[in-house]
Amino acid sequence: MEIAKRLQGVGEYYFSKKLREIDSLNRQGKHIINLGIGSPDLPPHPEVIKTLQEEAQKTHVHGYQNYKGSPVLREAFASWYQRWYGVALDPDTEVLPLIGSKEGIMHICMTYLNEGDAALVPNPGYPTYRSNVTIAGGVCIDYELKEENNYQPDLAVIRAKDLSRVKLMFVNYPQMPTGQQADMEVMKELIAFAKEHRILLVHDNPYSFILNDRPVSILGIEGAKEVAVELNSLSKSHNMAGWRVGVLCGAADRINEVLRFKSNMDSGMFLPLQLAAATALSLGRDWYDEVNAVYRARREKVYALLDLLGCTYSKDQVGLFIWAAIPSGYKDGYELADAVLYNADVFITPGGIFGAAGDRYIRISLCGSIERFETAIARVSAQLEKIRS
Ligand SMILES: Cc1ncc(COP(=O)(O)O)c(C=O)c1O
Repeated sequence: MEIAKRLQGVGEYYFSKKLREIDSLNRQGKHIINLGIGSPDLPPHPEVIKTLQEEAQKTHVHGYQNYKGSPVLREAFASWYQRWYGVALDPDTEVLPLIGSKEGIMHICMTYLNEGDAALVPNPGYPTYRSNVTIAGGVCIDYELKEENNYQPDLAVIRAKDLSRVKLMFVNYPQMPTGQQADMEVMKELIAFAKEHRILLVHDNPYSFILNDRPVSILGIEGAKEVAVELNSLSKSHNMAGWRVGVLCGAADRINEVLRFKSNMDSGMFLPLQLAAATALSLGRDWYDEVNAVYRARREKVYALLDLLGCTYSKDQVGLFIWAAIPSGYKDGYELADAVLYNADVFITPGGIFGAAGDRYIRISLCGSIERFETAIARVSAQLEKIRS
């Protein structure tokens, strides 16, 4: 069958392919340790599971739900934004629950991009921005994030580009994969830039609670709602990646525009799941402290693994990963990642999948137990000569 033009140039998602390869290696008797993916291995809070169980027992909760999400969940997102980010949102008009924030990226592209329109995407950055812009018929214009610039967007460089067809700009802090936090002065300049060029800023914010004491929302900047929307998610902050709960926050007009597309795509989320997500959002500081204590201990192991591989990295990273520069002996991060996979049965992510600016880097996820990291360190240690040759 001939596939649609919109999929040309869009391959299968890297992890989807790589997980198949890892599966096949495992079927051949290997026991690959996967340190690639940012899928939290810890469970959600017990109260969250209890809400799901109790609500699912009821008879009247199994039908289609409101396209705008349950009012209980919208209210919970608004309270969460007020409590942790200091941002006031109207739960009726400025909050749209999503089936994960990844789907929100597609909805936004489909809502705002015409064929040939452009979107500014970070390089390195989350690959879904690039693929979804392309699928929606748009064209990506990369803006490079450089280590020497603390991985902040360089507005002078961006302004020098042809911006005539730019409709969207994706921004993501804490940044994945580099782990850097937003410089708020740069974010303010971005808001002004977006107003000047009539660009919708899409701030993607799923990592603000991981190893970070100061969650920040772009919507907290004065005037931001005029030009910015924010995506958020329970996947990382509440260990609920498989539940698929995210949110889009922004001005009522933006929410209604995106809903025009989204309400034609899906028919809402299972109500007990939405109510359990609301329970998650009401958790106090203890929850975040507990989760972060686990990640902090694991991070030490990741540092040890990276030291063994001769990689260099900054210790002020936040989020679920450590981003590290590879030593000069390797052609690129793919070569190092493959050497580690095929010699030590440990999967780490080559930085190049996040864009060409990530070619000389790798990314290691904190989503594995201490024991798994220790086994990975032992395996790499035992195969170091082969990995280096
Ligand atoms: C930067 C970034 N944005 C969005 C997502 C998607 O998260 P969700 O599970 O909410 O779809 C991810 C997932 O890895 C991510 O790294």
